[in-house]
Amino acid sequence: MNDIRKYGRLFFMIVLALLFVMTILKKGFIKTSQTNIGVLSKDSLWSGKTPDLLPNDTSSHSALIRYGYELIAHTSKYLGPNGQVKRITNGMNCQNCHLQAGAKAWGLNYGSVAANYPKFRARSGTFESIYKRINDCLERSLNGHGLDSNSSEMQAFASYILWLGADIPKGTIAKGSGINNLAFLNRAANPDIGKALYNTNCSKCHGNNGEGMRDSSENGNYFLNPPLWGKSSYNHGAGINQLSKLAGFIKNNMPNGINYQQPFLTNQEAWDLAAYINTQARPNKDLSKDWPSLATKPFDYPYGPYADSFPQSMHQLGPFAPIQTYWKNKTNSK
Ligand code: HEC
Ligand code: HEC
Repeated sequence: MNDIRKYGRLFFMIVLALLFVMTILKKGFIKTSQTNIGVLSKDSLWSGKTPDLLPNDTSSHSALIRYGYELIAHTSKYLGPNGQVKRITNGMNCQNCHLQAGAKAWGLNYGSVAANYPKFRARSGTFESIYKRINDCLERSLNGHGLDSNSSEMQAFASYILWLGADIPKGTIAKGSGINNLAFLNRAANPDIGKALYNTNCSKCHGNNGEGMRDSSENGNYFLNPPLWGKSSYNHGAGINQLSKLAGFIKNNMPNGINYQQPFLTNQEAWDLAAYINTQARPNKDLSKDWPSLATKPFDYPYGPYADSFPQSMHQLGPFAPIQTYWKNKTNSK
């Protein structure tokens, strides 16, 4: 009898303790799943919310955010050459470059978009809305056609990107968004060295001719690994066709699966790889309306005309430090 009472009390206390622990856990859990804040790493880099935190209520706004996520992660399925909704892009997904649907630190992350658009952009010489910026990537990175701002697809793209960056204070840049620029080499980047590195480290996924690899289980309709050059790749007006952007992207994200905390390539290797990839053939775009003010062209913009006298080859592959110094001195002396 005594034993029963003793064990009964013990049992009761264990249940009480369990309930207590569960309440604390539940509180903690609810707190993290309801908060809108992306994650900050120890070194204060921002990464966005993961797809399990997409709003799951029945409002039409939440439905747009979820559709936007789908479109960014599986662009080709909806808008690619065999797209279910429209056929306006090259078969790549936004997420091929904006990794983890734009949530990965230094993986072309969308963190700062909500806080900074509309904004002035020198490439067009105009104030650009978020719609215009999304169309830029549709027309250049996906070598396709833009969408009407009031189409469901454009509203969905924008709703997701605005949702993702909603916590970043207006006008500020979240550290970890976009691309982490690498220090310059003191020589020109070398496509021949890049080619050898490519064949050792990249071709097994991206193909010997940069053509990517298609998913045979989907009748080859989609890319398992996206193309890096050739007819299905980004065109020569895309932002990533600038050497510094491609090198910064590769260093922190490739081979696929690595991150900025554990890079695989040295800076030099990333620059040389970028030199090889961006000197291969890719689709053309009419760029005659870009950079209405030539003096605002970036140092590594690979096509003339230029407002300085450095040769095109130097704008394309470097060394870049002399170009940057020239422009710094010029603006300082104004
Ligand atoms: C081939 C790679 C690539 C693909 C694919 C791509 N983008 Fe981009 N995107 C870029 C680069 C590069 C930038 C410029 C980043 C910079 O200047 O730091 C950019 C910038 C952006 C920005 C502005 C980001 C900012 O912080 O100002 C938005 C918005 C955007 N892309 C949306 C999209 C959408 C939507 C898609 C799919 C329809 C897409 N992108 C597909 C490479 C790509
Ligand atoms: C294990 C396979 C794999 C390897 C190895 C790999 N990649 Fe990728 N790469 C991918 C995948 C998959 C993506 C798209 C990521 C996504 O959609 O989440 C990608 C995306 C890219 C992109 C942006 C999208 C595009 O098509 O332009 C570039 C640039 C790139 N890789 C370059 C490289 C380089 C350079 C190397 C060698 C250092 C490399 N990759 C090695 C699988 C790989």
